[in-house]
Amino acid sequence: MYNGGKILLGILIFLALATFPFYNNIGKADVEPKPSIDTPAIQKLSEKKCIEPTAFMKAEHMVLLNEWRDLAVRDNNRVYVAGDGKKYTISLQNTCMKCHSNKKEFCDKCHNYAGVSPYCWDCHLAPKEGK
Ligand code: HEC
Ligand code: HEC
Ligand code: HEC
Repeated sequence: MYNGGKILLGILIFLALATFPFYNNIGKADVEPKPSIDTPAIQKLSEKKCIEPTAFMKAEHMVLLNEWRDLAVRDNNRVYVAGDGKKYTISLQNTCMKCHSNKKEFCDKCHNYAGVSPYCWDCHLAPKEGK
């Protein structure tokens, strides 16, 4: 016999504990890197918004990227419908990096700080940036 309520509670407690180190670091402005969103494509936006809400993007963008890859490669689906109903072409290079064309000042800023170096750029083209 399974106790659905208890299992759910257990999962919630696990999630709370597992994500605590992350939430606990939010707001420590003096140590956190400040990724720049100052790019030509973002300047043109009437609303300075990402594909999904900022807090979600901040915490879950790697999960979203995996989902995108699976949709594109396994299901041959190249259209992502965001939570707000807007449609985006599924492409790391042509969608994410079109807005975030300043990889060094955006992605890399956080990743260097967090000590992660996604291997994506072994194959995917990174935006060309002036030095
Ligand atoms: C239409 C332009 C646009 C596209 C496309 C876009 N972004 Fe964003 N992104 C933004 C803007 C603008 C912000 C800043 C939102 C804010 O300040 O609230 C942002 C914020 C973020 C953040 C949070 C940054 C922080 O300081 O916490 C991450 C991470 C991110 N984007 C990753 C991605 C990834 C990965 C993709 C592709 C799956 C993507 N973005 C696609 C415009 C875009
Ligand atoms: C607000 C800070 C921040 C920004 C901006 C950001 N990232 Fe990240 N990213 C992280 C952190 C922190 C991790 C590590 C998370 C973990 O290990 O659970 C990460 C992990 C990843 C991973 C998974 C890497 C791995 O080895 O597991 C990918 C892929 C990724 N980011 C892509 C991007 C791309 C592409 C951009 C720019 C469009 C970007 N990120 C911008 C903070 C950020
Ligand atoms: C070994 C080479 C390789 C590496 C490394 C790699 N990819 Fe890909 N990726 C591909 C290929 C090939 C495709 C299929 C391209 C197509 O069908 O348009 C693809 C497709 C994708 C797509 C969907 C289509 C597109 O053009 O964006 C996403 C999103 C994606 N990869 C994300 C990532 C992320 C995030 C990483 C790093 C964590 C990564 N990939 C690492 C080779 C790679």
